Amino acid sequence: MAIERTFAIIKPDAVAAGQQGEILARIQKAGFKIVAMKSMRLTKEEAGGFYAVHKARPFFGELTDFMSSGKIIAMVLEAENGILKWRDTMGATDPKKASPGTIRHDLGTGIGTNCTHGSDAPETAAFEISYFFAGMELI
Ligand code: RTP
Ligand code: MG
Repeated sequence: MAIERTFAIIKPDAVAAGQQGEILARIQKAGFKIVAMKSMRLTKEEAGGFYAVHKARPFFGELTDFMSSGKIIAMVLEAENGILKWRDTMGATDPKKASPGTIRHDLGTGIGTNCTHGSDAPETAAFEISYFFAGMELI
């Protein structure tokens, strides 16, 4: 297995609830290296570009409204098999279906308000990392 980088977001619900510290502690406990991190607020258009793959889905408007509703924390995480490892640390999309001990199960409050984002494949990780971070921020 190879060392992989993935892209992660602490979503507006978790930032508003003051759960940044709890989520960062879980990231470090799981053994990820935090390669880059920034706090920012997306416009609806920027959120739409990020989630462009979901443009045709019925929840797209709701999703981009939510993702632009408050500050997020954007991160690049690194670990062995990092993409799958972060998906496992987050848990299933719907907190009700996520396993106990995962971030979404323990802290999420709904399918939209599910605390974190994680890339789902190497190609999406590459796109998402470059959407948020310049090369010099990733050294
Ligand atoms: P994410 O991209 O945020 O890490 O979440 P994911 O891969 O687990 O799920 P995905 O299918 O990519 O969906 C992106 C986000 O859209 C919201 N969603 N709402 N109302 C709905 O049925 C619905 N389905 C998905 C979720 O917030 C999900 O994280
Ligand atoms: Mg996704």
